[in-house]
Amino acid sequence: MAVIENAKVTVVGAGAVGSATAYALLIRGSAREVVLYDIDAARAEAEALDLAHGAMFTGASEVVGTSDVGRTAGSHVIVVTAGAAQRPGQTRLELVETNARIMASLIPNLLEASPRAILIIVTNPCDVLATLAVEQTGADPARVFASGCVLDTSRLRLALAHRAGVDPRSVHAHIIGEHGDSEFPLWSSARIGPLPVAEWDASFTPAELDAIATEVRTAAYKIIEGKGATNYAIGLSSTRIVEAVLRDERAILPVSTVLSGTLGVDGIALSLPSIVGSDGAVPLDRIQLSDSEQELLARSAATLAETAASVRA
Ligand code: 2OP
Repeated sequence: MAVIENAKVTVVGAGAVGSATAYALLIRGSAREVVLYDIDAARAEAEALDLAHGAMFTGASEVVGTSDVGRTAGSHVIVVTAGAAQRPGQTRLELVETNARIMASLIPNLLEASPRAILIIVTNPCDVLATLAVEQTGADPARVFASGCVLDTSRLRLALAHRAGVDPRSVHAHIIGEHGDSEFPLWSSARIGPLPVAEWDASFTPAELDAIATEVRTAAYKIIEGKGATNYAIGLSSTRIVEAVLRDERAILPVSTVLSGTLGVDGIALSLPSIVGSDGAVPLDRIQLSDSEQELLARSAATLAETAASVRA
């Protein structure tokens, strides 16, 4: 396919994450029309009105708030943020019962109204919810996937960049696996500029790299303790994925797609560096993992498979 002009993007859920995503879409001029859809019409309309009032400062985008799923019809991309969010100390996987029910009630109607849409699940646990959504709708795994570890990868690049004293955009490193407690950095291919991370300077010892991985893996818990939820960075991460789709960028982003045997993972969505364009997300199948990384990936997949099975039961 090609670049999508005059794109319509629906954001499902007008809570902290959904409104931050809509805000990022507007200030970055990512779409011609942004629909903020929520069952709470008053909330959706108020958030959209507040966003629209910045029209003098943003590009020529239209933003509307609605509780009518018909108003989402013909969307090119749908970002699903609706659902319960983690309480302090709660894991993402513990949200699965509640949010799986919400997804099952939402996604079929959204895809019926926008049959050609690329659907990106942000709601947690996003990997398990993407797995269940593909199973329940029979959708192409390239077209229904989760935001996965794009946000975690940004956190990793920031942590490395701060320590190295460089621009985060000059750090090439990925977090893969579950968007959650079993995620891990792909150290074997991580670079700062042209140099492997461990060769950047003597401070990047194995202990320091472990500390960085823990800092990234626990980042959300720290923010949730302090302000109740994360929203800005996940809004920007989701917008980045939307832009790669609408502009057919074929950008390599660690989104979460249901795998079919790649690196030994079958039938579960988790994050691997993937090519994201107007046809959706296709995971790279030629990644070389170290033995320890392969073991960590298998552990992450097992955790996600167990959680998905607990909901199907
Ligand atoms: C985050 O990582 C809570 O999944 C959300 O910020």
